[in-house]
Amino acid sequence: MTDVLGGRKRSDYCGELSLEDKGRQVSLMGWVQRRRDHGGVIFIDLRDRSGLVQVVFNPEIDSTAFKEADRLRTEYVVYVRGTVRNRPEGNINPDLSTGEIEIKAEDAAVLNEAETPPLQIKENLEVGEDLRLKYRYLDLRRPKMQDIIKLRHRVNKVTRDYLDEEGFYEIETPILTRSTPEGARDYLVPSRVNEGEFYALPQSPQLFKQILMVGGMEKYFQIARCFRDEDLRANRQPEFTQIDIEMSFVNRDHIFKISENLIKKIFALVEIEVPETIPIMSYSQALKEYGTDSPDLRFGMKLKDISDIVAESEFNVFRKVIENGGQVKGIKVRGGAEVSRSKIDEYTDFAADYGAKGLAWIAYKGGDVSSPITKFLSENELSGIQNKMKADEGDLLLFVADSPKITANVLGNLRLKIARERDLIPAEENKFVWIVDFPLLEYDEQNKRYVPLHHPFTSPVKEDIPLLEENPEQVKANAYDLVLNGEELGGGSIRINDKELQNRVFQALGIDKEEAREKFGFLMEAFKYGAPPHGGIAFGLDRIIMLLSGTDSIRDVIAFPKTQRGTCLLTGAPAEVSRAQLEELNINLNVDSKDKN
Ligand code: AMO
Ligand code: AMP
Repeated sequence: MTDVLGGRKRSDYCGELSLEDKGRQVSLMGWVQRRRDHGGVIFIDLRDRSGLVQVVFNPEIDSTAFKEADRLRTEYVVYVRGTVRNRPEGNINPDLSTGEIEIKAEDAAVLNEAETPPLQIKENLEVGEDLRLKYRYLDLRRPKMQDIIKLRHRVNKVTRDYLDEEGFYEIETPILTRSTPEGARDYLVPSRVNEGEFYALPQSPQLFKQILMVGGMEKYFQIARCFRDEDLRANRQPEFTQIDIEMSFVNRDHIFKISENLIKKIFALVEIEVPETIPIMSYSQALKEYGTDSPDLRFGMKLKDISDIVAESEFNVFRKVIENGGQVKGIKVRGGAEVSRSKIDEYTDFAADYGAKGLAWIAYKGGDVSSPITKFLSENELSGIQNKMKADEGDLLLFVADSPKITANVLGNLRLKIARERDLIPAEENKFVWIVDFPLLEYDEQNKRYVPLHHPFTSPVKEDIPLLEENPEQVKANAYDLVLNGEELGGGSIRINDKELQNRVFQALGIDKEEAREKFGFLMEAFKYGAPPHGGIAFGLDRIIMLLSGTDSIRDVIAFPKTQRGTCLLTGAPAEVSRAQLEELNINLNVDSKDKN
């Protein structure tokens, strides 16, 4: 027989068998998790993607099967035929879903051998991540990875089913394309046929999804791969996936409804409840109270502004900062007065890392007030601060005086650090929030120009359009982010569909006609021919899977992820290419390259 399986057929999955199958003859295929020789009787734990089952080989039952079993080693691929029976009293394993049964082997065959694997297939691996990534195929055999990959599949399926029900078309857009406007660095691909020209990999399908609206598709979605050459952080990958959505003839409320329903279905997979309507918070409130546009609302410790209390203070640091347009803000650590000086030094260093020039503190301890700054503050100022901060005996107050941006950034991060440290975040709670009314643009000090906070096709809110020329920083955008527990799950906007308005926004951004034509000319051209009102959103699929599976590494939720340095340890990408390939592309490297021919 030429069949690679020798005509054998799998009847069941290991992990799905139970006492109900008692007496049945089953044919299983999988990997040897473990083999134990109990003097004359061999036990193996057989594993497939559904789980484990114990198989018993007894020489008296079938001596050929027993001989095969004798050869078995960890990770050998095997076929076993046998009968399900209950385990003898005392041998029941309550930790295993199939712990009440075992398979009495009647036939077995080695389908493939395996070398001793460099990492064990088990739950709590104590090996470096590099080894896991290099031998990803072994890592993927671990139950945790199998569960995550399965969950990711289910999320994709729920997404497709729901959006299909709602009348969306799933449409693929090009990977080899032109630069898109998300503002990260592009990955470029040289064109052999068009010498000296490059494709850019899409940072998102943004331009295509808008053009699909001009193309009359009305409701688009895609589980889309995006590529961004940016500094990698814990929750970022150079290549990641979005659930990308765009709709015509809608306003923000329509998009919120579709998004909320989708998120509800996705989070139901792990029994996390999503509120019927997700609360909405303005960008300015989020920044004011939490110091960030992705606030974690599971705990308080809000930022409070004491600028008006200390505006005329003798304390130079505070007064001068306020005179120069800055702020003095603080947070209250309840019961924090007992922390040591070295802890306060640690907070001060932490604050400095985020740009603070100092960290002032007041501790209410033993009926007294201890602080390095009280000597500069009047009675009135001190009681004003205590009132504003609602500080009681035992509390610690921490203050930063700086520009609004730095103050927010420092205190926003300090708030999180202290909450984690003091265990103030209720892990079982989930707080979703829409953040809205972002500024349309912000000033980029480095490049001395305005840049869009989102992208240049985001519509300003109607009332603010007249401010575009005179007061661009005051203009709010019709943009929104969905945030869960301090993580940005997704973001989008209502787009500009009017050529005139688009030109005014380009102008405000300092994008001249030439640059606009060169970069986005094809979109502007499309907008001449009846662009419907439209808007959309994109969710970070990888981040959603991280939250659903409770893992803190984005690399755990991607089958073949890249390292923090953007490399793939499995394939060795990126890699040098041959001189012949470079010549074909007409590329001369500006670095010493080894002669590869
Ligand atoms: P944005 O750039 O906000 O919007 O991206 C949308 C969502 O994608 C996720 N995300 C990432 N996930 C992993 N690794 C990364 N490097 C990464 N970068 C972003 C985040 C984010 O919320 N075209 C617009 C959407 C629109 O306007 O419709 C866009 O791409 O969860
Ligand atoms: P100094 O007068 O520089 O010794 O500062 C007195 C206290 O004010 C110290 O605890 C400093 O950490 C704090 N401090 C200095 N600059 C700032 C600032 N910009 N914001 C908050 N506290 C500050």
